[in-house]
Amino acid sequence: MSAAKISSAPVILDPQTGVLRGTGVTESAKTLRQLAGYFRDETARAAMNPETILYRVQSYEPQPEGVEGAICCATTFLMPGKVGDEYFMTRGHYHAAQDKPEMEVTVSGEGILILMDQNRQTRAEIMRPGSVHTVPPRTAHRVANTGTQPLVFVSYWPSETGHDYGEIVSRGFSGRVREINGAPSLVPVEEA
Ligand code: F6R
Ligand code: ZN
Repeated sequence: MSAAKISSAPVILDPQTGVLRGTGVTESAKTLRQLAGYFRDETARAAMNPETILYRVQSYEPQPEGVEGAICCATTFLMPGKVGDEYFMTRGHYHAAQDKPEMEVTVSGEGILILMDQNRQTRAEIMRPGSVHTVPPRTAHRVANTGTQPLVFVSYWPSETGHDYGEIVSRGFSGRVREINGAPSLVPVEEA
């Protein structure tokens, strides 16, 4: 009897660092320049070095975006810092296929997951090493780093999901995570 082939996984996620390595892993970065318009204090953002990297993302997408048949994962490395009193954060988005959920698992650091439903009701969950968060369908999600170290988390979502940044670009979230009296606070946004 000949033995069946046992192969290695194509991708390894380092459980200590969150680093993804292997065939098909892609990498991207977002700078302060690319987040123009996202922060409350645009004057403060414009005064900072525009090439400052806010976050890097390593993605493993076994199917192309929008094509069903796989679960994707990505590690986000979100740097510590603030623009004015607002913590460094990801852009945030809804999913293009609105019924698709997501899961975030924190590897290291401290932060806040901001969740906004389609009625623009915003709530937030504390991220700490090992915390597991469900992003329900039809829920915009953004992460803010409220600590002094990089915030590292892994996201999982179905490959058919797709990403929709439009409403967040035009209207933002209805709450912002800002440092108020020395502590993170979810502050409601007054809309014009
Ligand atoms: C995937 C997902 C994350 C984010 C990443 C960067 O659906 O939510 O992998 O894409 O944290 O944030 P954005 O894409 O909002 O700039
Ligand atoms: Zn997402």
